[in-house]
Amino acid sequence: MRRSVLHFDILSARPACQLSRTKFRIVEPHPFSLRGKVALVTGGTRGIGRSIAQELGRAGAAVALCSRKADACEQARAQLAAQGVEVMAQPCNVSRKDELQALVEGVCARWGGIDIVVANAASNPYFGPLTGIPDEALDKILTSNIKSVLWLAGMTLEKMAQRAKRAGSSASFIVVGSIAGLLANTVIGAYGLSKAADHQLVRNLAAEWGPRGVRVNAIAPGLVKTDFARALWEDPQRAAERIAATPLRRLGEPRDIGGIAVFLASDAAAFITGQCIVADGGVTIL
Ligand SMILES: NC(=O)c1ccc[n+]([C@@H]2O[C@H](COP(=O)([O-])OP(=O)(O)OC[C@H]3O[C@@H](n4cnc5c(N)ncnc54)[C@H](OP(=O)(O)O)[C@@H]3O)[C@@H](O)[C@H]2O)c1
Repeated sequence: MRRSVLHFDILSARPACQLSRTKFRIVEPHPFSLRGKVALVTGGTRGIGRSIAQELGRAGAAVALCSRKADACEQARAQLAAQGVEVMAQPCNVSRKDELQALVEGVCARWGGIDIVVANAASNPYFGPLTGIPDEALDKILTSNIKSVLWLAGMTLEKMAQRAKRAGSSASFIVVGSIAGLLANTVIGAYGLSKAADHQLVRNLAAEWGPRGVRVNAIAPGLVKTDFARALWEDPQRAAERIAATPLRRLGEPRDIGGIAVFLASDAAAFITGQCIVADGGVTIL
């Protein structure tokens, strides 16, 4: 007697075939799958945030992204939608608390909650000796790189914890830090200060929210070829020196970072919290 096997994906609930004398086999979700999850990525229109938004979407999450510019938001939304990602984009300057609140409310109104947050947007308006930084530049760095992350945590973690409890799973809050927060730097010292604070914020929030089922981790990229870091890699001599000092002998690309966010957001990282994953081609091991 021939027997057919019905593969039944419990997340999509779409049977692959239907024949008589069926035998059910429950297919365990892949540990890296984000199907059914809702993710919010700040600064997702280009660079590292764009790679993160794209990879979270390719792993199955519905993705909300923001940037300060409406046209950039719409362009990124259309491109991700064309790749089959369920996506929304809303202009938001993370340094403005009311805009951040409106973004969180917009995502919850669209998809009913949030499971994954990636606090990626940041700024660095100053290059030079630390003691020479104008107050205005320091305030901008502290607001966009630290305060906005804490605001976002305050707006989302309680909701994420409640949703994770209902679903019997964990939620994931990820901050994009930097190796500038791990090493001394004579050029981007204030920025490094803010990223070191982000790494500590991650440890503190992980300790506070672990008991509620929310994991909190950081990614610390090395030099990645984006607009943000253009001043550090565009000059060929500077780039060559940096490459020579990198064990993997190349600079980072945005695509080097997106998959790390997928890992941290997924069940594959279910026992990881309060950590900072360094992705720098080995620069910090020397
Ligand atoms: N590139 C590197 O070498 C490197 C290394 C270590 C860490 N990082 C970190 O990686 C993250 C992303 O940097 P990136 O290199 O990908 O930069 P990027 O290519 O310049 O992209 C930054 C993204 O954030 C948005 N953005 C900037 N300020 C914003 C604000 N106040 N509110 C909302 N969105 C904002 C930008 O869009 P709009 O301009 O339209 O707002 C854009 O989508 C940052 O946290 C940065 O500190 C970068």
